[in-house]
Amino acid sequence: MYTPYYRPRRLRRNENIRRMVRETKLSVDDLILPLFVTEGKNVRNPIVSMPGHFQFSIDLLVEEVKQVHQMGIPAIVLFGIPGHKDPLGTDATNEQGIIQRSIMAIKDAVPDMYVIADVCFCEYTDHGHCGAVINGEVDNDATLEMLQQQVITHGKVGADMVAPSGMMDGMVGAIREALDENGFEKMPIMSYAAKYSSAFYGPFRDAAESAPQYGDRRGYQMDPANAREALYEVELDVQEGADIIMVKPAMPYLDIIRQVRDTIDLPVAAYNVSGEFAMVKAAAEKGWIDEKKVAMEMLTSIKRAGADIILTYFAKDVVKWLNE
Ligand code: PBG
Repeated sequence: MYTPYYRPRRLRRNENIRRMVRETKLSVDDLILPLFVTEGKNVRNPIVSMPGHFQFSIDLLVEEVKQVHQMGIPAIVLFGIPGHKDPLGTDATNEQGIIQRSIMAIKDAVPDMYVIADVCFCEYTDHGHCGAVINGEVDNDATLEMLQQQVITHGKVGADMVAPSGMMDGMVGAIREALDENGFEKMPIMSYAAKYSSAFYGPFRDAAESAPQYGDRRGYQMDPANAREALYEVELDVQEGADIIMVKPAMPYLDIIRQVRDTIDLPVAAYNVSGEFAMVKAAAEKGWIDEKKVAMEMLTSIKRAGADIILTYFAKDVVKWLNE
């Protein structure tokens, strides 16, 4: 019989020692909860493909944020669904737009909540693309000017951070310039630096009513087959002044999270997107997997890969599970 000399199992024999040698710990401090806001009063529309998530009107959004704050979640990221969409997504740059009014209401009622504004146009344009469409294409530089207008309104209503997600070239630099020129030099930018053109965004597009009406986003979001290009995108965003770098989606791109973590010294965020959430929910509803265990394993893997911050629809569940 062969007797092993090395026995790694010694440190797995009970929960005490496992706790002591655990390398990665998920904490409430890591979490950002995405929330959706729509027009109206007393509205709480369930999002069918994202169980437990809703499109809230501003009044109920504020109630939700109070609860999220009490649970100890440090930050939320907001997505707005305007009452009126047009080719240039003008609600997004209006100081009285849905997102601007939401931020004001939240900051009024729950000033300690850290509020991040998503910076993009796909929820606001009637064609559903992430900027101005000129000659059948999203025009990069025209969109940069729109992004500058958008973030100035976020600054004016008291957002804590902006998170550009449109994958326009130069977006971080343009936004940094606009913020600095308007007295918002203290506002950080979390850039969706490596955002892939992913089918995992399906449920989000139902939630935000932001699916492109024609074509797709492959002309600006990244090809899922590319890794080196992600590092180039990240490098550009660091040079342009990003404060936090995001990789999105998370679970199918753990290799990218790891490479970004090893390449830069800024905080790295990962977006555990709607499709990743919906798959777990659906399989759990069928009784095929254990939702809590699978979700915690998934989020731990994202952290282990190198993410400091995780945007996740599981945020409230995680707080519950960590306290169980
Ligand atoms: C664009 C945006 C998207 C998501 C966040 N910001 C969708 C897209 O690019 O179509 C997706 C998030 C998710 O799937 O949870 N504003």
